[in-house]
Amino acid sequence: MTNKSGKHLILIIDDEEALRDGCSQVLEKAGYAVLTAEQGIEGIKLAREHLPDMAFIDLKMPNISGMEIIEILSRDIPDIVLVMITGFATIVSAVEAMQKGAYDYLPKPFNPDQLRVLAKRGLEHRNLKIETKRLRVEKDLMERNFITFVSHEMRSPLVVIRQYIEALNEIAGDRFDKDVKEIIDRCRKRIQNLEELVEHWLDISRIEDGTFAQQKVSLSLDSIISRSVEEMIPLCRKRGISLETNIPQKLPQITGDAESLVRVFTNIIGNATKYTPEGGKITVTCQHDEFYINVSIADTGMGIPPDKLSLIFEPFFRCGEKNEKHSGSGLGLTFCKKIMESHKGCIAVSSKEGEGTTFVLTFPSQIDPERKFSGTIS
Ligand SMILES: Nc1ncnc2c1ncn2[C@@H]1O[C@H](COP(=O)(O)OP(=O)(O)O)[C@@H](O)[C@H]1O
Ligand SMILES: [Mg+2]
Repeated sequence: MTNKSGKHLILIIDDEEALRDGCSQVLEKAGYAVLTAEQGIEGIKLAREHLPDMAFIDLKMPNISGMEIIEILSRDIPDIVLVMITGFATIVSAVEAMQKGAYDYLPKPFNPDQLRVLAKRGLEHRNLKIETKRLRVEKDLMERNFITFVSHEMRSPLVVIRQYIEALNEIAGDRFDKDVKEIIDRCRKRIQNLEELVEHWLDISRIEDGTFAQQKVSLSLDSIISRSVEEMIPLCRKRGISLETNIPQKLPQITGDAESLVRVFTNIIGNATKYTPEGGKITVTCQHDEFYINVSIADTGMGIPPDKLSLIFEPFFRCGEKNEKHSGSGLGLTFCKKIMESHKGCIAVSSKEGEGTTFVLTFPSQIDPERKFSGTIS
């Protein structure tokens, strides 16, 4: 932001008159508008009134310290760039000032060049920050518009096409020969995949904007795991993979939404079935201490190459080739990660190519105030 004259406005708060005058002269000559204040309270008042782009603040002043002023201004004036002037530039005070919101510090004595360079750099930093913020707002808006577009312009026609195909099958299914039936069946499957992709995509955006319906209640993970395993057993059988669980009897409660957690587990177990060859094994194991519950889902499948490991939670990322046996949207793990985050938990992965992959889900457990701490996650 610039003042009425189109110049950047800089405020100097320092109790030393010579320093204020010297800085004003240098900065005005460099093309900035300058305001000065002799002490902190006056400086804060001026800043609130004129909203400067940048302020140089002396650390040591009577009444109110530079550190307190930095704290107040960084809270009150968005995007202001604050620099602390210090007579004794200790690392400790510089670090503290940065933690309170300062951009940099300027040790005394300094020369005009140092002041000019810092003012220029600080204001450039401010411009970049403002630009980044603007772009972020724009990106959020575009994403939101895109989501509306996806849900209205893509989802609705897909549903209609699926219904037409179903109707076609009902009305004339018995008149079609085998080839036609096969083509129609392929269309139906492709449309189903597309519908699933759109649904996943919408779910992820809903989690991001906080409109994804979740009913968080106190629940036990063993019931969630049992439900998920039961759901996945038929698929495992079909693919010739064994599914084993190893869950302790009494697990601490967690706070969570059962439906979305079942989806997390079925997604991860589903992946394990997709990327594990026939004869393989999936093991679900659970461990806990007083604070966390870890659930690991390990498979004996093809594994994930080390360079791809950090990418698998990214939307639409898939390690496999397009002609891979099993289709997918590349959104499953993005969904799982977001749901885990919304449960204040996390998801981690480790893998060895050709040996298998293990996903570990960590949940914070509800802490029972009566219980004494007795152990760690091994
Ligand atoms: N258990 C696993 N074993 C090997 N690779 C996996 C496993 N789970 C996930 N992946 C890899 O991570 C990618 C992203 O997973 P996901 O987001 O669920 O997408 P999708 O399953 O739709 O491809 C998968 O395409 C696959 O390459
Ligand atoms: Mg998947």
